[in-house]
Amino acid sequence: MENSQWTQRYGPTALVTGASSGIGEQFARLLAQRGFDLVLTARREPLLLAIKEELEREFGISVTCIVCDLCDPDQVGHLTQEVLRLDIGLVISNAGYGVAKGAYLDIPPDALEAMYRANSLAPARIARALLPVMVAQRRGGFIFTGSIEGDAVFPWSTAYAASKAFLHSLVQGLWYEVRDSGVDVLLLAPGATDTEAPLKQGISRDQLVGIMSPAVVAEQALAHLGVAPHFTPGLSNRLFIGLLRLLPRKWSIALSGYGMQRAIGKSRSA
Ligand SMILES: NC(=O)c1ccc[n+]([C@@H]2O[C@H](COP(=O)([O-])OP(=O)(O)OC[C@H]3O[C@@H](n4cnc5c(N)ncnc54)[C@H](OP(=O)(O)O)[C@@H]3O)[C@@H](O)[C@H]2O)c1
Repeated sequence: MENSQWTQRYGPTALVTGASSGIGEQFARLLAQRGFDLVLTARREPLLLAIKEELEREFGISVTCIVCDLCDPDQVGHLTQEVLRLDIGLVISNAGYGVAKGAYLDIPPDALEAMYRANSLAPARIARALLPVMVAQRRGGFIFTGSIEGDAVFPWSTAYAASKAFLHSLVQGLWYEVRDSGVDVLLLAPGATDTEAPLKQGISRDQLVGIMSPAVVAEQALAHLGVAPHFTPGLSNRLFIGLLRLLPRKWSIALSGYGMQRAIGKSRSA
C-alpha cells in the first residue's frame, strides 16, 4: 500500500500502546511516516514527549500523549474513554512486559496479577471498547503484539507465556468474528527482538536466537495487516514454533523448558 492509502484505509488517527520504547516506538515512527496523527501511550512520560516532539517536527503530524499504567484498571478505563472521543481508525495494542524468567512459584502473586492485567485484560478491554466503533463504521485495523511464547508452552516463563496465550486466542477469534466487517485484525507474535524487554526479564542479549530489530518487526507486521490473522516475524522463529507444535506434547514442553532454563542459567552466570 502507498503511504496515502494507509490513512484512507485506517486513518486519520492511530493509537499505539507501549509507544515509549522498542517495537511500539517503531510502530509510531512508521505510522508517522504514513501520515497518521498519533495517540501514544505508556507510563514514561518524558520518553513519550521526546518522541512526540521529534515526530511532529519531522512529519508535520499531530501527536497526543496519554500517560497510562495498563496494570491499573481505572487508568485503562480513563484511556478508553479518552480515545473513544477521537477518530481512531488503527490501534496498535503493543504494550506488555514479562516478570523475571524463572520458577512460577517464586513470583509474588501481586506481580503475576499485575502482568496479567497489562498483557491480557487491558488489550481485551481496549478491543471491546474500540472494535464496535470500527465495525459500525465498517473500517479500521487492530494489531495486537503477542509473542512466540503465546503459541506454545514455555516452562520458566510460564506466566508470561500464559498471558500471551490468552491474547492469541482472543485476537484470532476476533479476527474471524469481524472478518466481513471491514475491520482488519492481526496477532503479531514476535520472537527475540532487540529491545529493553529481554534484559528486564533476566535474559542477556547473547542468549537470544535469531534476534530481530524492532523496526523490522513493526514494518513486517504492518505488511501483514489485512492479509492473515497471525504473523510471526523471522524464519527461525516460525520453524521453532512449527517444531514445538509437531512434537509430541511432553517432548515439546521439555524442549522449550530446557532452552529457557539454559538461557536463564547462562544469563545469570555471564
Ligand atoms: N523484545 C522481545 O524479545 C519480545 C518478544 C516477543 C514479544 N514482545 C512483546 O512486544 C511488546 C513490546 O515490547 P518491547 O520488546 O518493545 O519492549 P519494551 O521496549 O520494554 O517496550 C514495552 C512497552 O510497553 C510499555 N509498558 C510496559 N508495561 C506497561 C504498563 N504497565 N502500562 C503501560 N505501558 C506499559 C512500555 O512503556 P513504559 O515502560 O513507559 O510504561 C514500553 O513502551 C510487548 O508486548 C512484549 O511482550 C517482545
